[in-house]
Amino acid sequence: MVHRWRMEADAILVGTNTALMDDPQLDNRLYYGKSPLRIVLDRKLQLPNNLKIFSDGQPTLIITEQDKPINSASHLHYLSMNFGETFWPDLLAILWRDYKLGVILVEGGQKVLSSLIDTGLWDEARVLIGQKPLAVGIPSPILPGSPEKTLKLGLDELKVYQHVQRS
Ligand SMILES: NC(=O)c1ccc[n+]([C@@H]2O[C@H](COP(=O)([O-])OP(=O)(O)OC[C@H]3O[C@@H](n4cnc5c(N)ncnc54)[C@H](OP(=O)(O)O)[C@@H]3O)[C@@H](O)[C@H]2O)c1
Repeated sequence: MVHRWRMEADAILVGTNTALMDDPQLDNRLYYGKSPLRIVLDRKLQLPNNLKIFSDGQPTLIITEQDKPINSASHLHYLSMNFGETFWPDLLAILWRDYKLGVILVEGGQKVLSSLIDTGLWDEARVLIGQKPLAVGIPSPILPGSPEKTLKLGLDELKVYQHVQRS
């Protein structure tokens, strides 16, 4: 199901720590159809080149405050911008204006999700809840309001939150 969501998105975005700790592929391997464009926040260009999102030959867009490196691989694209207070509205506007990316799936982690939720610039949140309590780890972000619907997925649950944008 998550890979179907990836197929439906124009792009999939993760934070620096998630890219480093999980080394995800962020593609659609388990459903038919296309994969989204991968986007990673790497303000200081500190992520290692051997991560899957950089080394598997598929396109990745790297959002950074640094200049584009010289001699970068052709499948790696760089967007240099300011990571100040208007980061999210600026980024979303550029992604639409210059790349025609309108449906962005943000797959974490907590800091990225929380900062995006705080801006109010999100439409829907999908929270998957498993059976096994995790005693340690990073707490999930806090969503405002209550879920629009709750679906049973076997023993797990999917809670869907909707956010109405201010015009
Ligand atoms: N359960 C799940 O579904 C799930 C999903 C994804 C990840 N995870 C887990 O989450 C953990 C990582 O989460 P995390 O909260 O530590 O890190 P994160 O959200 O993945 O990345 C946060 C880092 O991204 C950079 N960043 C750049 N722009 C940002 C912005 N506008 N807002 C927030 N961060 C920005 C910052 O690093 P700089 O200051 O260096 O720029 C920041 O410290 C991993 O352990 C991963 O396994 C869980």
